[in-house]
Amino acid sequence: MKQMVRNVKIVGTGSYVPEKIYTNKYLATIVDTNEEWIEKILGIKERRIASKDEATSDLAWKAGENAIRHAGLTENDIDLIIVATSTPDRPCPSTACFVQDKLKAYNAVVFDIAAVCSGFLYGMSVASQFIASGVYDNVLVIGADTFSKITDWTRRDCVFFGDGAGAAVLSHANDGEGFLAYRLYSDGRGRYNFTVPAGGSENPASIKTVKEGLHYFQMNGKEVFKSATTLLPQAIRKVLKDTGLKVDDIDYMIPHQPSIGILKKTAEILEFPFEKVMTNMDKYANTSAGTIPILLDELNKSGKLKKGNIIVFTAIGAGWTWGASIIKWS
Ligand SMILES: CC(C)(COP(=O)(O)OP(=O)(O)OC[C@H]1O[C@@H](n2cnc3c(N)ncnc32)[C@H](O)[C@@H]1OP(=O)(O)O)[C@@H](O)C(=O)NCCC(=O)NCCS
Repeated sequence: MKQMVRNVKIVGTGSYVPEKIYTNKYLATIVDTNEEWIEKILGIKERRIASKDEATSDLAWKAGENAIRHAGLTENDIDLIIVATSTPDRPCPSTACFVQDKLKAYNAVVFDIAAVCSGFLYGMSVASQFIASGVYDNVLVIGADTFSKITDWTRRDCVFFGDGAGAAVLSHANDGEGFLAYRLYSDGRGRYNFTVPAGGSENPASIKTVKEGLHYFQMNGKEVFKSATTLLPQAIRKVLKDTGLKVDDIDYMIPHQPSIGILKKTAEILEFPFEKVMTNMDKYANTSAGTIPILLDELNKSGKLKKGNIIVFTAIGAGWTWGASIIKWS
């Protein structure tokens, strides 16, 4: 039997954020919070909010189209579309089916990944296995979320999230370039620390669940902070060990964007210079599965990423789900 193992790289990136902006100043007029606290503690100045008519798939397909064009491909070249989201258009079918039809990418197999804020990291890893094994050549991975739709706008935890989507096309690469290591982790014992209690099979939507606001997200901020600052450094150390690289070899960290505090603590634990930790939560807040690909697209198109750069991606999401991967940029 012929075994096919191919290297995998990112050949195109794209992103899309809605036009409407909610500034900290505006939020301070609707809930008990303050501008300075949000900016200082979370690193957020403003976030984008999808319109009433914009579903997650609308953001996702625009980001996806953008990435396909950037890769110099057409929709017909895409073999697989993975949409990472925890704010799907509908419980079924998958948001990926909506995106496929909007893109008219009918040669592709499509499915969703539900790993919340780790979704894009999980998606890149799953896509890579299909390309490495020779099953598919071009995979579109999209991270898209509209947390504004599951936010209680009367509570002060409405400050954390924004809406947005990012995407990357992954294809096969030459030896010595592309992804060098991936490590994904999950621990379902943490599943209640960030959750949407109702609307699923455990507690179906009813007048009572809606009245009690159980269709909105609930977050245990202290546990998120504790888990993130423990698990992100562990995952990064593991991929460094896998590759034989040292912390000093990393040119950029492109992490999930939960809060500036979590990222500063993570860098401190790793003894990694914070200047190399890329952020854009000031403009977009936490867009959940959208954070890494939106930031990647910005950095890629600004010309900051150079051939040969060693880049580490890392994320943690509800569940818990978390991990890290390392790529040699090409
Ligand atoms: C949110 C976070 C900063 C809160 O800190 P904490 O110590 O856990 O929570 P507390 O409720 O004790 O609040 C601490 C202070 O922040 C203030 N605060 C908390 N949320 C606030 C908000 N939305 N607006 C303004 N102030 C807020 C509290 O009033 C309190 O102020 P005080 O010290 O003057 O009393 C912290 O838990 C955190 O960063 N968690 C990670 C959350 C995250 O990243 N979520 C997104 C990814 S899922």
